[in-house]
Amino acid sequence: MDLNALLSEEGRVDPPALYARLHHEGVAVPVDGGAQGFAVAVHGFDAVAQVLKDPRFRQLDAAYLDLHTPQWRRHPALRVLRDSMFFTDGPAHDGVRQIIGRAFTARRVSALEHAVTGLTERLLDRLAQLAADGPVEFMGEFAYLLPSSVMAELLGVPQEDLAWFRPRVLAIGAILELDGANWRNMVRADTAARELSAYFTDLVGKRRSEPRDDLVSLLAATDLSDDALVANLITTFNAGFVTTTHLLGNGLTMLLERPQLRAELNAHNVGSYVDEMLRFEPPVQILVRYAPEDAEIEGVPCPAGQAVLVMIGAANRDPARFTDPDAFDPARPDPGSLSFGFGPHYCLGAALSRLEGQVAFPALFERFPKLALAQQPGNVAKPLILRGHDTLTVACHGG
Ligand code: HEM
Repeated sequence: MDLNALLSEEGRVDPPALYARLHHEGVAVPVDGGAQGFAVAVHGFDAVAQVLKDPRFRQLDAAYLDLHTPQWRRHPALRVLRDSMFFTDGPAHDGVRQIIGRAFTARRVSALEHAVTGLTERLLDRLAQLAADGPVEFMGEFAYLLPSSVMAELLGVPQEDLAWFRPRVLAIGAILELDGANWRNMVRADTAARELSAYFTDLVGKRRSEPRDDLVSLLAATDLSDDALVANLITTFNAGFVTTTHLLGNGLTMLLERPQLRAELNAHNVGSYVDEMLRFEPPVQILVRYAPEDAEIEGVPCPAGQAVLVMIGAANRDPARFTDPDAFDPARPDPGSLSFGFGPHYCLGAALSRLEGQVAFPALFERFPKLALAQQPGNVAKPLILRGHDTLTVACHGG
């Protein structure tokens, strides 16, 4: 595969067209020229799941950066990411994941349902007010605010601080893109990482002296090191809403472009709708792993130190796994996807983000039955790791 094809304007506008071509070439292909240290792209559904659970393939951890970016410790953003469970494997990862996983038990998540419903209603009230003056920017006024408010509730971050977070979270997200770690983005991400670290260090201090029933208090009472504590708070907080924000924006567009399916959406079938939205247009299209030792994937060699493009967005369109994979069909007989990953790093927030989608979509259409796109989002080139709309203007007509 030519990595440039994926990174090109055309590839970023319509990745499924490229995915369809890849599916004609087996389940994994060499990346031409080993561009950017990538040796293999894996895109078949089963092969992707296999790589994600195979301990021979690791996250781009500190050992990987020592090899490819020896100066990385000078960058606060890279240090924060590497101190978090996202970029560690093995026992170190499992221990932290177990501690943080306690916050995401089914019981805790279902206890949040009430809060999710209340926050949704409040945001819809605000949308209604804004709509009196004309079209509304859905991403900023709803898709960002719902998941970030839910995360704030879960972690114990004051709601009034959320506006401060958004640019900082976006700055860290930018360096995770395939070609995003350029100098300009790194400078911004480093500043954001310094500010977010200071913010969470302060919050941890406050919760240590006055614990509350929130995730920060729970983690502050564990024996996690301060660096690991702050790094995991920053990354979990960010992961908790950048992705769900895109689920809400991508999902809304899918519904508004399909009036028949939108008319059939109700509180009973919304679970299948949300799962199909996640399959069809996953907020995270690509994961990355590397091989510390020489390895191979379905016959394609991955030399030691080289990275793998793990294409979950393509796996979700694998014709060997899904009938008519390019059709958006909430009633499909073969549901499922790899949109939350697979194996030891499987998303801890899967149940929570599904819940948010399941509450938000029916509530949105109940409040604004004639909700419509005020402007076509258009076929614009978008990032691949975190994929969604920057802005989405809608007309919130009432009944
Ligand atoms: C639609 C929304 C979401 C999507 C598409 C999504 C996607 C993912 C994916 C693909 C991974 C695997 C990363 C990898 O294997 O490298 C992951 C991991 C993770 N996600 Fe999510 N996520 C979503 C929402 C959330 C929410 C709401 C939270 C927190 C409340 C969250 C917290 C996490 C954490 C902590 C991990 C790391 C787990 C680990 O490394 O063991 N995510 N997510």
